[in-house]
Parts: sequence; C-alpha cells; structure tokens
Amino acid sequence: MSANASKLIRELVHDIEQTLETTKQLKKQQEPHEQSSTAEVEVNNDNNNNSYRLSISVFAMPADTNSQQSIFGGWLLSQMDLAALVECKMQSPGRYVTIVLDQMKFLKPVQVGDLVQIYTNVQHIGTTSIRIGVRSEVNRLDGNPPFVVTQGTMTFVKTNEQGQPIPIVVLNPKSQ
Ligand SMILES: CC(C)(COP(=O)(O)OP(=O)(O)OC[C@H]1O[C@@H](n2cnc3c(N)ncnc32)[C@H](O)[C@@H]1OP(=O)(O)O)[C@@H](O)C(=O)NCCC(=O)NCCS
Repeated sequence: MSANASKLIRELVHDIEQTLETTKQLKKQQEPHEQSSTAEVEVNNDNNNNSYRLSISVFAMPADTNSQQSIFGGWLLSQMDLAALVECKMQSPGRYVTIVLDQMKFLKPVQVGDLVQIYTNVQHIGTTSIRIGVRSEVNRLDGNPPFVVTQGTMTFVKTNEQGQPIPIVVLNPKSQ
C-alpha cells in the first residue's frame, strides 16, 4: 500500500472515531430529557414561597359574588382546582380527578375587580396521585404589594378514560 493510501485510511479512521465520540456525547446530553419516571417522588415539601410558580391569573367579577357582594369561596376554590390541574398536566399530561382538598384556609376576603393570582408547588408525586400546594394572592393593582388570600393542598389522581387510576409518568424529572 502506498504511503498516500495509508495516510488516507488513518485520516478516515480518525474521522470515524471522532464521529462516534460526538454521537456518544450527544446521546448522553439527550438522556436526561428522554428519561421518564414512575417512581415515588417527594418533590417539594416545604412551604417556601420561592418554590411556588404562577399557574393562572383571573379577575374576580360581579358574577362571582354571593348575596353579600363578596366573592364566593366556591368560585375561588374552583380557580385553585384549575390552577393545580394545570400543574398536574405540566408534570404529566393526561386526565386527572381531584380526590382530596387539605388544610384549605381562606385568610382574607376577595373583592370584585381583584386580580387573583394562583401559585402552585408540586409536593409529592406518588404512583397514581400528585399532591399540589396551592396559594392564591390578590393584587389590587393599586400600587400596594399583593397579599395571600388562600392556601392549602390539593391531591389529584391520574385516570384513564374509564376513570380508573393509572400510573403517572413524570415528564422531565430532572427539571423538578
Ligand atoms: C379518584 C378515584 C379514581 C380514586 O379511586 P380509588 O380506587 O379510590 O383509588 P386508590 O385507592 O387506588 O387511590 C388512588 C390514589 O389516591 C391516593 N389517595 C386515596 N385516598 C387518599 C387520601 N385520603 N389522601 C391522599 N391520597 C389518597 C392513593 O394513595 C393513591 O395514590 P398513589 O397511587 O399515588 O399511592 C375515585 O375515588 C374517584 O373517582 N373519585 C371521584 C373523583 C372526582 O370525581 N373528583 C371531582 C369531584 S367534583
């Protein structure tokens, strides 16, 4: 074999080795994103305000009032239910039903025109259930800081179309 031919072969082998190495590294980088998990995860059990993220914002309207012209607790509860449901679906898309409301506390009344901002925090992911911390704040948009009006936890069960519990496969567990 000529010197030129063996040089060419060495270069080719070197190129192939480099391509293989790059492919290996790219695969490694992608692995955490492709991973999914059905393991029990105690995600965030503290009540640290920083670990909550904004899920939904909604204005309290006259149609949401009771006969004393203050906002229905039931209306606020349903908004919290929706906010927590958004969080569940972000963790693992699918159908969910609410199974438990816990330690729900209404701290201050909400008025018509208040901007209600609902924050959520994943506290525990079980086999078929997720427990979400939920906190509502009111922003009166009057230059004063928002204040907390309700807080509590809500647990949801992931179900199939027949309403039977099914395992939760967490998207992107590394991003918790
Ligand atoms: C939710 C529902 C499907 C659960 O069915 P089930 O046969 O009781 O389910 P299981 O006993 O297997 O429990 C399912 C999950 O809920 C959890 N769970 C059950 N009771 C619980 C409680 N009191 N507190 C916290 N979690 C509870 C279980 O631990 C399990 O979670 P895991 O798999 O992560 O461990 C069923 O109760 C239901 O359809 N309820 C009505 C829901 C609904 O309509 N909600 C809207 C109300 S308008």
